[in-house]
Amino acid sequence: MRIYEAKDYDDMSRKAANIIFAQVTMKPDCTLGLATGSTPIGMYQNLVERYNAGDIDFSEVTTANLDEYRGIEPTNEQSYYYFMNEHLFSKVNIDKNNTNIPDGTNMDVEAESARYEQVLRTLGGVDMQLLGIGRNGHIGFNEPGEEFVKETHCVDLAESTIEANKRFFDSIDDVPKQAYTMGIQTIMKAKKILLIVSGEDKADAVAKSFFGPVTPKVPGSILQMHQDVIVIADRAALSKCPR
Ligand code: F6R
Repeated sequence: MRIYEAKDYDDMSRKAANIIFAQVTMKPDCTLGLATGSTPIGMYQNLVERYNAGDIDFSEVTTANLDEYRGIEPTNEQSYYYFMNEHLFSKVNIDKNNTNIPDGTNMDVEAESARYEQVLRTLGGVDMQLLGIGRNGHIGFNEPGEEFVKETHCVDLAESTIEANKRFFDSIDDVPKQAYTMGIQTIMKAKKILLIVSGEDKADAVAKSFFGPVTPKVPGSILQMHQDVIVIADRAALSKCPR
């Protein structure tokens, strides 16, 4: 695991965009695993700017998103489908047929989990998986628990996650309580992982995930077992790490 310190959110975003840029330049037909949330917005903006400058071509890229709320329409502004269109897909020359996100409208948990896992198998593996991390150490929506759940599954979101996500909804009652997420093994199968994190409120999660014991109680800690992880964290997020 290589941890790079960024000065602040903008610096983190630029450094992360550099890595995605290099990945797409080196392998134009790569599969990118993508994440949503506040953290990657600046990175996506940066990639869109480079696309507008004619420096990056997404025409052969395939994407697979980590997660999606269950029971939410793609037209809902809070859906991850909507987010991806808003921040990246509608702004670059990616072929929409090559973008994949769990289907939040499929209420059949077993069928949707199996379908998405099959999609990922058919893609033949993710070249680079982008991750953010939750304050409780979750990756994707793999919340702290007693075991690592391997494949795509439906989760009950932790209270702290619902609380953290309520800023995007009119009221806490509107925040979906469940989500589909890639499992830990699904994430760990990616050839490379790029985790980005910013802010002091993530400092505990960062210290525990990258310097503590590997445990499902801190899902991000599993990344210590992956052979090719790059973490780009700003100073505030690294503030509780051993020096
Ligand atoms: C999003 C995802 C989540 C977020 C995490 C951090 O697709 O999988 O694990 O990366 O909740 O969210 P933000 O970036 O909003 O702090």
